[in-house]
Amino acid sequence: MRKGLLLAGGTGSRLFPMTQVVSKQLLPVYDKPMIYYPLVTLMLAGIRDVQLISTSRDIPLFEALLGDGKQWGMQISYAVQYQPLGLADALRVGAPFIKGEPCALVLGDNLFYGQSLEEQLTEASQCRGACVFAYHVANPSAYGVIGFGPNGQIEGIEEKPAEPKSKYAMPGLYFFDHRAVEFAAEVSPSARGELEIVDVVNRYLALGELEVCKLGRGVAWLDTGTPDALAEATQYVAALEKRQGQKVNCPEEAAWQQGWIGDEELKQLASQIGGSYGAYLLGLLERT
Ligand code: DAU
Repeated sequence: MRKGLLLAGGTGSRLFPMTQVVSKQLLPVYDKPMIYYPLVTLMLAGIRDVQLISTSRDIPLFEALLGDGKQWGMQISYAVQYQPLGLADALRVGAPFIKGEPCALVLGDNLFYGQSLEEQLTEASQCRGACVFAYHVANPSAYGVIGFGPNGQIEGIEEKPAEPKSKYAMPGLYFFDHRAVEFAAEVSPSARGELEIVDVVNRYLALGELEVCKLGRGVAWLDTGTPDALAEATQYVAALEKRQGQKVNCPEEAAWQQGWIGDEELKQLASQIGGSYGAYLLGLLERT
């Protein structure tokens, strides 16, 4: 069974002083903690067994928030990354948890939302080798960038290139088969001193076993790493939720929709949470 890695460490220095005493991924994005959003992305991919990786300072808070995952019919465990050595390091820290299974790694500050997403996640989950996504952005230099050849073939992926070969960024969501741990162990630090995830992805490319799935205009991919990006993500979620009366990436709803919890469990969660969030969960039961 594919396992999930949720990477929620790092220093969050671009958000200082907001993140001086608390993890960035615990900050609110409108009506829920940031970490809920990527967690629900894993849930929509059908992944129930997740390990959250963060700093020793922040793990107790994540544990207090998410527990062991049973309330959502999941299993959530925790592992400490002592130094922010880079994204590929998540596969080293998570190796004992992954134990030779395929995995999906999602960054704790990435928010995905959209109608066709669930279908694309299910497809990605069935890939042979590895599957990553491509998303058209205005500022590709801020991301891993996917270079395409004249016939649309993938030529390579570069991390934050000064001269990007395309406008397609690679979002922080990666599906790997069991070899990712082995490939990550072989990565050396880059010029900026990090164990880069693009090096792992490029290994699959060299083997001809990388799929790239373009996320269309109907899918929103936002990251939340700067004060502006965080404010924009909050505005986006608020606008959608108020307009539609439906929540964006609500784990209780996702668990219930997946059939991992039943009506009774949802009611119980609603009464524990209370307020307008709890009322929303109760409303889900009335709609059916
Ligand atoms: O957001 C997508 C981009 O994420 C990709 O396009 C890039 O290829 C990828 O390298 C990454 O770029 P960022 O510059 O946004 O990565 P950042 O260093 O901000 O880390 C992303 C998240 O991972 C952030 O929430 C902190 C966490 N993190 C980061 C590192 C380096 C860790 O938990 N541990 C780490 O060692």
